[in-house]
Parts: sequence; C-alpha cells; structure tokens
Amino acid sequence: MFVSISDALKKGEGIVNLRGWVYRERKTKNKVFVILRDSSGLIQCIIDPSQTNAWDESQKVLIESSIELMGELKKDERALTGYEVHVKELKIIHLAERFPITKDQSPEFLLDNRHLWLRSQKMTNMLKVRSTVFKAIREFFEKNNYFEFTPPITTPNACEGGSTLFEVKYYNDKTYLTQTWQLYAEAAIFSLEKIYCISPCFRAEKSKTSRHLSEFWMAEVETAWQSFDELTKQAEDLISYIIQKVIKDNNGELKALGQDVSKLEKIKAPFPRITYTESLKLLEEDGLKIKWGKDLRTVEEEKIVKHFNKPVIVTNYPKETMAFYKPADPKNPKTALCFDMLAPDGYGEIIGGSQRDVDIKSLIKSLKAEGEKVENYEWYLDTRRYGSVPHAGFGMGVERIIAWICNFDNIKEAIPFPRTMLRFKP
Ligand code: 4AD
Ligand code: MG
Repeated sequence: MFVSISDALKKGEGIVNLRGWVYRERKTKNKVFVILRDSSGLIQCIIDPSQTNAWDESQKVLIESSIELMGELKKDERALTGYEVHVKELKIIHLAERFPITKDQSPEFLLDNRHLWLRSQKMTNMLKVRSTVFKAIREFFEKNNYFEFTPPITTPNACEGGSTLFEVKYYNDKTYLTQTWQLYAEAAIFSLEKIYCISPCFRAEKSKTSRHLSEFWMAEVETAWQSFDELTKQAEDLISYIIQKVIKDNNGELKALGQDVSKLEKIKAPFPRITYTESLKLLEEDGLKIKWGKDLRTVEEEKIVKHFNKPVIVTNYPKETMAFYKPADPKNPKTALCFDMLAPDGYGEIIGGSQRDVDIKSLIKSLKAEGEKVENYEWYLDTRRYGSVPHAGFGMGVERIIAWICNFDNIKEAIPFPRTMLRFKP
C-alpha cells in the first residue's frame, strides 16, 4: 500500500511504498540519489546497485519523472528530513522529457510556464496556505451562523464604477463580468439575513501595480440589521481568525516561504480605528499635506499603517468620492459610513466595506452623479421598496491577504494562474 511521504516520516523506520515525482536527481558511478516529491513533502532516496535490481531503471530518471518505489526508510542525521529511503524496487510511471524549468529562471519565464511552476516548493507552499485561507473564511462564517450564498458572475450593472468593467458579448447583447457580489447580496439578505461568499471578481484595472489583479477572489459578507460598529468588529475578527489558523496549520510552509511567524502572531483584534480626517493629520506629521477630499494613494496608506504596525481601520472617507451605495454619516454628512482596512508592510487595502444607504432618493442622486442610468438599477432599488432594513457588508481581497501572509512582493504569486492587464495565459 502506498503512503504519503509525510505519513512515512511519521511512521518511522521500516519498509515503505512511495510514489511521486523526481524533484532532484544526482547520478554518481555507484549510487543514484533521488529526492522524491509528493504533495506532502520531500524525501531523499538512494539507489545502490548492490541492494537493488532497480539500478538500470534509476539510470534513466530525469527531473519530474513520475515514479513508484519500495524501500527501507532509515534514520540518517544528514538527510534533509532526518530519514532516507534505501530503494529496493523502482518503477518509472512516466519518463519526463527534459524539464524546462531549471535554476535561475526569470519571473516572466516562470509566469509563462506557470502550469509547470505550480509544482515548485514555493507555489506548493502558497497553494497550501491559500487552501487554509479559504477554509478559515468558511469556518469563520459558518461558526457565526452565516449562509453561503452564490452570486451570478455575469451582471448588467456596475457596482464599483464603470471604468473597470469587463464587457462580455452575450448572444446579441452585452453584459459584464462581476466586480463584486454586492448588489445581489443586498437582495438576498431579505431571504437569508446573514450571508457570505468567496467568489471570483473581475476588474479591468489599467494599472500594473504589485497589488492589482484583473481576476481575483473576494470573500464578501452582507448582514441584515448590522450596525457600522458591528461591521468593523466582524472585519477585524475575520482577519485575526484567518491569520491565527494559518499560523497553526501552515507553520512549516510559512517558514519555508521566509515569513517571520512571530510577526504574524501579533495580528490579533482589536485593530486601531481612525477616521480619514485623522489620517490626514498623521500624514501631516510625516510632512505630507493632502487636501481634504482627495483619495489616499498607496504611499499615503503605507505611511498611515507605519504609525501602528497592525492593520488599521480607516473610516469616514469623503462621501463624494465613494461608491453610490455608501451612505452619509448622520454625525458628519460630508463623510460616508464606510471603512477600508489597511494591512502593514505595504500590502495596502485588504478590506473595503460600509453601511448601505437605504434612502432611495439619495441612492438615485448618487447613481446619477456617477453617470449611471437609474433605470438599469430599478431591480436593485426594489430592495429599498419592500421591507427595507438597515444592513452592512464588506469585501476582502483574498489574494492580498495571501500575499501578505506569505510575505510575497507581488500579488501574482498569491494566485495559481494570474490574470493582469498584461497577462491572461496560460
Ligand atoms: O474595496 P472594494 O472595491 O469593495 C467592493 O467591491 C465592495 N462592493 C465590497 C463589499 O462591500 N461587499 O473591493 C474589496 C476588496 C479590496 O479591499 C481589495 O482587498 C480587493 O477587494 N480588491 C482587489 N484585489 C486584487 N486585485 C484587484 N484589482 C482588487 N480590487 C479590489
Ligand atoms: Mg476599496
């Protein structure tokens, strides 16, 4: 019976049957060394002609050949995992052609060959962390009695401004790829009250930053009856939950990726809250004078977070520059009841959320100000016509979280097949 490499290591010395791929191979005159890789780890295997009839086969193996082997697992202090396998039988399942990825390849070459680069330790570690992040999000919401709700991916409406919409030919018509589930979520809370999703989102971002993808995954939540304070608390609790779960489940992966785990351990709620107006004062202390009403750029966001070294919740951005659904704060109507959560270390905005405007007149006014045709939003405005209730929600950029957790310098590393302004292949 075959076992995984990690199970074999747990079991310790004895006979094992393993299968996987050749990660490294080195052939000397009287020994062949193979590092075997499977989804659970790596292990060194030794083929010695005096102990096996697999010598001839072992002469053929090349990197990424798939193999099965039987041998004796023995302790060896010098081996990378403390054990090595003395091979008795070896079967090549598929003899790989010469693998195109060798040492010191350029980032562009690795992106062109992403389908093969996924096998690397770096990508495998990322994919495991990514899987934990998805699991943590679901666990967090399920524990809090949320329903998973699945929005459509094609939509006739913009939600986050028309400039980043991807147009799709739709029979004889046109539609768009979704920017967010939000408009649909606001309709679905009337049925389920507390809902979340993890779903692909699309933005035709005409910028080539290390933070923007054209296709990314967003974890979103929408809650009927929720107040703004409850909303921001939920956002910080979600982030703490994800980080603490990854530390627990993926300690080895984080270390292998070069992340300082002790730094992540400190990411626990509560996070500091400041208003946009207060953030301008902090920036002024840093010698940066920003006119009230202007959007914060990445450099400015980074400077704000440096004051805290923890994620920061910035609330009350200027109402005028905000998406149409963010309501004015009754205490300060020039600002909106909204927030962004900014991550430390230059990872930028990881969450955006708000209370939702329930006043149909002000929604119509804001839609017009954005240049939208109000008749296209009639179906959405119905949510304010039949038993409207206060509600709130937010969206978290999953790849931004993964890039931050994995210590990557580019968001492209945080998704298996990145799509950006300059790349939609492979
Ligand atoms: O701030 P955004 O645009 O908010 C919304 O779309 C709301 N409708 C969400 C809601 O309230 N339900 O996007 C939310 C988050 C951002 O904070 C960022 O983390 C991520 O999604 N994001 C991107 N991530 C990668 N590439 C992009 N192009 C992104 N655009 C947004
Ligand atoms: Mg935003």
